[in-house]
Amino acid sequence: MGRIFSGLQPTGNFHLGNYLGALRNWVAMQKEHESFFCLVDLHALTTLPEPSKLRSNVREIVAVYLAAGIDPERSYIFPQSAVSAHCELGWILSCLTPLGWLNRMTQFKEKAGKQREQANLGLYAYPVLQAADILAYRATHVPVGEDQKQHLELVRDIAGAFNRQYQVDYFPLPEPVILKTAARVMSLRDGSVKMSKSDPSEYSRIQFSDDPDAIALKIRKAKTDPDPIAGDPKAMENRLEALNLLGIYGALSDQSLDAVCREFEGQNFSHFKQKLTELLINTLEPIRQKMTVFLKNPERLDAILEKGSQKARDLACTHMNEIKDIVGLLKA
Ligand code: TYM
Repeated sequence: MGRIFSGLQPTGNFHLGNYLGALRNWVAMQKEHESFFCLVDLHALTTLPEPSKLRSNVREIVAVYLAAGIDPERSYIFPQSAVSAHCELGWILSCLTPLGWLNRMTQFKEKAGKQREQANLGLYAYPVLQAADILAYRATHVPVGEDQKQHLELVRDIAGAFNRQYQVDYFPLPEPVILKTAARVMSLRDGSVKMSKSDPSEYSRIQFSDDPDAIALKIRKAKTDPDPIAGDPKAMENRLEALNLLGIYGALSDQSLDAVCREFEGQNFSHFKQKLTELLINTLEPIRQKMTVFLKNPERLDAILEKGSQKARDLACTHMNEIKDIVGLLKA
């Protein structure tokens, strides 16, 4: 049994990609591992969200976690800002991280875009804080979507740099756990970009706040092509939107892409889209209903966060004392 750490930014618009790429795997993995599921509100600050929105998003995401099946009796749910060790360790790790490593991060390049000089330091240092999140708990496994692969390689490099610098074997090198199906869910409007919370078009993503009518409309409008579905995904290499929808179907029905292609071989997309809509509604609607019930009881959500924060603080604080000792800082 290892220890899991993973996190999600409470920036609103929780979508199907977050669920299929990350959350559904957390639900499965919590049974086997001690699990810490964080709401990374400090990371969310890099986009300077409206304060009241950030506060309400935190509760909304806790409701999503619970409704999707995270068990608060078994796993710890907490906001990043409740545990000061994340920032303290972030600083220590930043002193071990060469700028060259950060300059390679594609997510920073994408987010900063042409405004690189205007991008804030938080956005640039984002992966170092992410390393601190994971290493403060000495986590062994990190279930994430494919887009986080590069950040997790960096976390392993930073953990290795610490161990080497101080000649210790203190941090385990955490393993990314990336699912085979739907590890990267793409936009419904453009199969070459990932489904994202910040895409200006709501039609690009299925959100967990969408009711069945909204889901049906978004799938009806989702981009496809006029050709029938091929029995072999390799024959569809350049049909990105088609492959994305088939991949979503596979992830939701626990089947490989090959199996889905075989099932729908020769059929056109209007029939497939009906089947996909049914599957999406059957999966998401019960979660949406449960979310609404959880959101009606904010005291319970706050109590769950408090319990998770307490446990996270205790563990991270023990580790921080050991880390301070290793690097030569006086213990608290
Ligand atoms: P965030 O909030 O952007 O994403 C949360 C999780 O959702 C996954 N994801 C996707 N998976 C498949 N298809 C998509 N289109 C898609 N979009 C998002 C992400 O891979 C992620 O697993 N940097 C992290 C937050 C974080 C973190 C951590 C994660 C901060 N500290 C420590 C793990 C461990 C992020 O991208 O969040």
